[in-house]
Amino acid sequence: MGALLFHGNCVTCHYETTERSAPSMQEVRKRYKEAFPNKPDFIKYLSEWVHDPDADKSIMQDAIAKHELMPQLAYEKDVLEEIAAYIYDTDFTKRHPFHK
Ligand code: HEC
Repeated sequence: MGALLFHGNCVTCHYETTERSAPSMQEVRKRYKEAFPNKPDFIKYLSEWVHDPDADKSIMQDAIAKHELMPQLAYEKDVLEEIAAYIYDTDFTKRHPFHK
């Protein structure tokens, strides 16, 4: 379910391994895992941030400087938690054949 939700909602801007209009999800995952190695912390921070993007709470200031702040999109909290868990568990560099 997390995979479907991720592909339906996030991949328009976040490709899995290629930076386009937004950092790749592999890069976001790497940075969030460095900050929040623990899965529950990762899920909580990521889902709350995406629910309400806030430059002051960003852990990717360089990405904001480059792409501007991610727009606020009307995602449900529980949907974001599922997506966050999926991101935590997925090594996007090893996924085939949907690489972009
Ligand atoms: C309309 C384009 C767009 C969509 C759709 C989008 N994002 Fe983003 N996102 C961005 C951009 C641009 C950035 C880089 C700037 C920033 O960090 O705010 C970003 C940054 C992020 C960050 C880093 C936050 C930080 O600490 O700065 C996370 C996490 C994230 N996105 C998750 C998601 C998830 C999960 C989804 C799907 C539910 C999603 N995004 C959908 C454009 C988008």
